[in-house]
Amino acid sequence: MPPAIDAPKPAAGQLPAPAKSTPTFSPDRVTVLFVLGGPGAGKGTQCAKLVKEHGFTHLSAGDLLRAEQERPGSQFGDLIRRYIKDGLIVPMEVTVQLLENAMTDALRKTGSVTGRFLIDGFPRKMDQAHKFEEAVCPAKMVLFYDCSEEVMEKRLMERGKTSGRADDNAESIRKRFRTFVETSMPVVDYYEKEGKVIKVDATATPDSVYATTQKRLAERLGANF
Ligand code: C5P
Ligand code: MG
Repeated sequence: MPPAIDAPKPAAGQLPAPAKSTPTFSPDRVTVLFVLGGPGAGKGTQCAKLVKEHGFTHLSAGDLLRAEQERPGSQFGDLIRRYIKDGLIVPMEVTVQLLENAMTDALRKTGSVTGRFLIDGFPRKMDQAHKFEEAVCPAKMVLFYDCSEEVMEKRLMERGKTSGRADDNAESIRKRFRTFVETSMPVVDYYEKEGKVIKVDATATPDSVYATTQKRLAERLGANF
């Protein structure tokens, strides 16, 4: 049974942002690539390589949620913990605002008005996609890592030995797969229709998947992406 929804309440000046009609960042200055794929598809692994060799800024929605969950004084901690354990999608206002805050922080750190972001594990639900593109920044492309549940489950169970994550166990993994198929694949399908999806087979080794990733990105964004 899904956990009861506590409607997110704004933390003083932090979450959630007031409704607005124009995105905070212009796609002329800020490039956003969404990175999608089932749990254990290797999104984080590939993002780390792209950061190292191509200078993207990597923001993982799951990592930001876990950090918010642990932040002393966060009023969303318990809510996030329950949703993650059950493999459910956290109410989008929380995640969208965490991403916007992280993008603002990253740009402030570099002192630049331009930036290139890999937004990993997001959007996982259509409402997140619409809200982010309306309020934060329109996305340029979606990198989709395609992998069988059999392979992903093996990877997650292996990762669970050391990750310390409350959702890297057989029961949570089953729930996460279900959420992915029912709620997140429609997002991939939506962007596919928009012609924005770059699909990469994520079954092979990290280096081999990365080689394909680079090739596909070069085809779509130009050789010097
Ligand atoms: O991407 P990752 O596997 O780290 O996400 C862990 C969990 O965080 C998801 O199963 C989900 O409960 C939550 N999440 C979310 N919305 C996102 C990304 C993650 O609710 N866009
Ligand atoms: Mg991840």
